Amino acid sequence: MEVIKSLEKDRSNLIKAIQMVQEEYGYISDKSIENISEYFGIPTVEVEGVLSFYAQFKRTAPGEYKIAVCDGTACHIKGSSRVKNWLVEDLGIDDGETTEDGLFSMETVACLGCCSLAPVVSINGKVYGKLDREKLLKIIDDYRNRGEN
Ligand code: FES
Repeated sequence: MEVIKSLEKDRSNLIKAIQMVQEEYGYISDKSIENISEYFGIPTVEVEGVLSFYAQFKRTAPGEYKIAVCDGTACHIKGSSRVKNWLVEDLGIDDGETTEDGLFSMETVACLGCCSLAPVVSINGKVYGKLDREKLLKIIDDYRNRGEN
């Protein structure tokens, strides 16, 4: 596993290694767990133990389109929870999940830095603001149709 080869094969680097793998691939797959355990010479169950302890580590692959729902103060006041609910209804996924077709994943994040546009989501880093239900679902549909082309 190329990405962690710079690390000394010492157990104290385990968390660092998992972080590096997640940065590289966006999540920790079963194969990555095996590779990490092999690299450090420790049982896979130990790597899984660390993974389950820290909420920051993701076990599912992110979607092709990564939706970040801003829940900073301005967006919260302007209805970020409604925005999230519209996405939950439309996509059938909740925070931290990925749709079965692998197209969309969603996570709630802190301020995206464009509060005057609240409520805001970003999709693969592109910001969409002043959202209402119709506008949001149209944006999602556009991405969905892109995925089918
Ligand atoms: S609070 Fe949402 S962009 Fe700042």
